[in-house]
Amino acid sequence: MSTKREIDTVTGVETTGHEWDGIKELNKPLPRWWLLTFYACIVWAIGYMIAYPAWPTLNDYTRGMLGYSQRATVMAEVKAAHSAQGAIRELLARTPLADVRKNPDLLRFSVAGGNASFQTNCAPCHGRGAQGFTGYPNLNDDDWIWGGGIEEIHKTILYGIRSEHKNTRTSAMPRYGVDGLLKNEQIADVVEHVLALSKAEHDKASAARGEAIFKEQCAACHGDQGKGSIEQGAPNLTDAIWLYGASRQAIMESVRTGRGGMMPLWEGRLDAVTVKALAVYVHSLGGGK
Ligand code: HEC
Ligand code: HEC
Repeated sequence: MSTKREIDTVTGVETTGHEWDGIKELNKPLPRWWLLTFYACIVWAIGYMIAYPAWPTLNDYTRGMLGYSQRATVMAEVKAAHSAQGAIRELLARTPLADVRKNPDLLRFSVAGGNASFQTNCAPCHGRGAQGFTGYPNLNDDDWIWGGGIEEIHKTILYGIRSEHKNTRTSAMPRYGVDGLLKNEQIADVVEHVLALSKAEHDKASAARGEAIFKEQCAACHGDQGKGSIEQGAPNLTDAIWLYGASRQAIMESVRTGRGGMMPLWEGRLDAVTVKALAVYVHSLGGGK
């Protein structure tokens, strides 16, 4: 490799003097504007790192001299929004649930706030329109497992169903099949009786045998007529509304496993005013009693 600088005859540009096997390198430095932009970016980046949060440290991060934090900005905005609503939130906190609907402004505020919170917290299980899914009750109809009064709805939301809270609703159906409380033939018979109760197509002889089993095993919770009981959280078996499905298979599965659906508790996860607004919202959906 030679290092002789010369003017390239074809282009008229000076070479760097580097040459490999007769191939010579032209001296073409980076354009000035490009270099200046590049240096400006470096200067800007250093300034940015000093001014703003930039680097992670072992268990924190460099905070920057301006003390900027998106989290703090959001917190301040949330606080401002809450204090703007302060008066009406405060009123909702003070008003007994039963009286909320007497004040149209308060009712409107609660339904709107409850709906917003419902979409975030409840819709994944109950659906955006509270229409429910298999295993997750519809909250629009007036068929209530645990009660459709506003106080009962409030209690369900606060403590959940079969949750870890000591005030939760605990009643659960025995697991007749899984725990061997009834033989398979007995389960088949009682299922025919449940089908008969809901006026579905059924085997008469089998349902007649099932009726005796029902009276003995099931009536304590579901009632002699199968109309259900809110104290026990035992659904009405005579209507066309099924939490787990109306088919013979679905009913058999309910009797075999007891189901034991769970709803999370919200006390401590949502503030008291939000839970109240949710109760008002759910109660307003049309099925509230
Ligand atoms: C993880 C799923 C889940 C979430 C989230 C959830 N629920 Fe539920 N919810 C259930 C299940 C399951 C039941 C039925 C439990 C049972 O078997 O009795 C239920 C029951 C209810 C009931 C009682 C219905 C009745 O007929 O008595 C109400 C009211 C209710 N939920 C409201 C809410 C509200 C309000 C929220 C949001 C704050 C919410 N749920 C969030 C799963 C959920
Ligand atoms: C200790 C009270 C209790 C007893 C006894 C009981 N159940 Fe239940 N049953 C419940 C509860 C509570 C549920 C709701 C389960 C859930 O929400 O996950 C239920 C749900 C059901 C369902 C599902 C209803 C639906 O809407 O999908 C059927 C079917 C049923 N029971 C039939 C029976 C039969 C048949 C017996 C007797 C062999 C029986 N139950 C005994 C409490 C009881």
